[in-house]
Amino acid sequence: MTDEKQDVPGDDISSSLQDMLKKANIQFMFGNPQAAGGAPPPDKKPDDKSDETLRRIREFHLKPKEVRDYLDRFVIKQKEAKKVLSVALCDHYNHVRRCIEDPTLREQDYAKQNVIIMGPTGVGKTYLVRCLARLIGVPFARADATKFSETGYVGYDVEDIVRDLVKMADGNTELARYGIIYIDEIDKIAARSSGTSGTRDVSGRGVQINLLKLMEETEANLQSQTDLMGQVQAIMDMQQGNTRPRTINTRHMLFIVSGAFDGLTDIIRRRIDRTAIGFRHEADRERPELDYLMKARAEDFIQFGFEPEFIGRLPIRVACEGLDEHDLEDILVKSEESILGQYIEDFKGYGIDFKMLPDAIRHIASEASKEKTGARGLMTVLERSLREFKFELPSTCVNHLEVNADTIADTPHALSKIRKENEVAHRALLRDEVTAFKKRFQEEHGFELQFTDEAIDILVNLSLDTDKTIRAICEQKFRDFHHGLKLVASRTGDTVFEINKQTVEDPDKELSTWVVTHFRHPDADKREGQNRE
Ligand SMILES: Nc1ncnc2c1ncn2[C@@H]1O[C@H](COP(=O)(O)OP(=O)(O)OP(=O)(O)O)[C@@H](O)[C@H]1O
Ligand SMILES: [Mg+2]
Repeated sequence: MTDEKQDVPGDDISSSLQDMLKKANIQFMFGNPQAAGGAPPPDKKPDDKSDETLRRIREFHLKPKEVRDYLDRFVIKQKEAKKVLSVALCDHYNHVRRCIEDPTLREQDYAKQNVIIMGPTGVGKTYLVRCLARLIGVPFARADATKFSETGYVGYDVEDIVRDLVKMADGNTELARYGIIYIDEIDKIAARSSGTSGTRDVSGRGVQINLLKLMEETEANLQSQTDLMGQVQAIMDMQQGNTRPRTINTRHMLFIVSGAFDGLTDIIRRRIDRTAIGFRHEADRERPELDYLMKARAEDFIQFGFEPEFIGRLPIRVACEGLDEHDLEDILVKSEESILGQYIEDFKGYGIDFKMLPDAIRHIASEASKEKTGARGLMTVLERSLREFKFELPSTCVNHLEVNADTIADTPHALSKIRKENEVAHRALLRDEVTAFKKRFQEEHGFELQFTDEAIDILVNLSLDTDKTIRAICEQKFRDFHHGLKLVASRTGDTVFEINKQTVEDPDKELSTWVVTHFRHPDADKREGQNRE
């Protein structure tokens, strides 16, 4: 009888490919690329989540002002950027909705409103786009332009971002073709002469060319040229007659790119200076950076190092403002997802009710603005200011912490004050920890350690003096006890042992005395003698 397996050509190929891959030390599972760590199969049957997203797109009815209001809940300032993004988003999804309703529209020409967001670091560029994607619930893929390489052999191929989008859409290409692609650090692929080295970055230019094709319209490969698993899966699909789409069209994807664009302001300023020849208004000299960025023209971007065709595909430009200390204060107090809220939750995790008074918030915001890293400075300063509290308080009985500017300015003083105020309760907590150790020891080894009051006091004082937890002290002091007590118990049958002052002061000496004593115990000798008889 013929072996049925051999009659299946796909299986034949799969086993020889399996062998080949095994020799190359590559693990692969046919028929289930996800299990092998590969991309999800494209154009999977839409599941509930994709259906829900498609339904949301079909019912898209938001107005730009509604989108702006949503962004206002999370992002402070950036009025202009919110306006631009709200309009771009609403236009894009209204168009998408129409394309879904009437597929013939898909083939008609449509001028996409790809957006470029400029502005200093940490002011909400990425955050704005993340909030938008969350609002619509559409597939959203994000990448740093610095990851891309021209060929894709060394780094990330620009089409990988499209494949990421398909992954985010759970393999549903119909959904992914209307997704949002966000590329951060776009200024880093400008092919300008890089300051110190003076070399021209040619790979940046190549990446721009590849990206502009995506932004305009291209059939992006769903399978990476360097993805061996994917290639093998494609062969298998062909063998099995599966006809999945091999490419995805990028015409209806919305591209938003952003970057800090350090140095662009100088280029714009020089241009304005040149054109104003001698008549430059005094006010111009004082003009804030944002005003210059708002005046950016294609020629400035080209001088910055972008290809004209590339910058031409990003018709909508907007600049985000820098954040001063009042804005940072607003972020802490008003933004729905502020980092302060995160700290409140962190403390809540230890049963501590945390409150920051307005003067402390002002102090944090003012320190953070000195960092010059936008809202990211808030994280740095909050962490630095609250580090000691976060470290110390979870091990105390403190269940309420209210910090003001003085508390933050002199943390050691504030902590010792808190400690003094809570000393009695803290000692009680440490006594409970001795009981907890006793319980664990009994559960693990079956022996009950009866600590005398005096012994507990010694342990508590030791914990306070050495700043070590009761758990660490007890585990260190009594680390050999279960061995010794087992020996003693083998002689006496005892399972309960008193731990007194002497035992905690020199546990090893006490334990060996117990062992020696019991091994010399006349009753024990007698019992052993009887056993021998
Ligand atoms: N305007 C803002 N309102 C509220 N929170 C903000 C704002 N700007 C930044 N944040 C907070 O700071 C974090 C970092 O901001 P984000 O990632 O948007 O910076 P960015 O402008 O993209 O900076 P970079 O140019 O370095 O990428 C956000 O996750 C958010 O928590
Ligand atoms: Mg960013």
